[in-house]
Amino acid sequence: MKGIILAGGTGSRLYPLTKAVNKHLLPVYHKPMIFYAIEAMAQAGIEDILVILGGESTGEFITLLGSGKSFGVNLTYRFQDEAGGIAHALDLAENFANNDKILVILGDNIFEYNLKNDVEVFCRSDAKAGIFLKKVVDPERYGIAEIKDDKVINIVEKPENPESNWAVTGIYMYTPQVFEVIKTIIPSDRGELEITDVNNVFVKDNSLLAFYLEGYWIDAGKFESLYLASSYVRQFQNKGGGV
Ligand code: G1P
Repeated sequence: MKGIILAGGTGSRLYPLTKAVNKHLLPVYHKPMIFYAIEAMAQAGIEDILVILGGESTGEFITLLGSGKSFGVNLTYRFQDEAGGIAHALDLAENFANNDKILVILGDNIFEYNLKNDVEVFCRSDAKAGIFLKKVVDPERYGIAEIKDDKVINIVEKPENPESNWAVTGIYMYTPQVFEVIKTIIPSDRGELEITDVNNVFVKDNSLLAFYLEGYWIDAGKFESLYLASSYVRQFQNKGGGV
């Protein structure tokens, strides 16, 4: 299995922090945000990772991460010219994936859960897509899964009247078929190729597996959630001594 970390986008919800600095380089407690996705991949046993970059200060990623050696992984970089949504960014990974299964993590997702077992379950299964769900208190901010008899029957992006509290987190697994699906979807009202539209194709095809994240999970793309992410990491790592 190969890894894809999406670290593009403009980070507009964090202006002016992201005016000169890429969102994924901002600190989450004692580390730059992007470290967490790379460490989660390494922990899941994934060695070859493509980092898709966009927005500001992309050159600094190489200074910061280099070849990936210090994480025990091999990093490759690709640049996304325009911010066209998650599915648009993922499409840039087709050659890199080279017919292997992929684990995709959005670079602003900070979580505690070890993905290793679920990655192995997905790799052994016939499923074409895997998503990770987490209960949230603010479902209108996320892709939300409608669940019936333990099965995901639909996903709605940022619903006004959410059917559940189960958010689809920014952690996904796919077979190479995902690249065919991406080419069939059209931009949403916000002008983006939505990963939710891609996932719904697999829901309808009955080939999507849902997994459940334990521990904290945060999409650190806003001021409050960025602050919370630092506070959870600090608490969890018990690094609270001294100022
Ligand atoms: C994206 C996805 C959404 C998902 C969220 C998780 O939202 O579109 O389905 O729940 O990531 O972090 P965005 O951050 O682009 O608003």
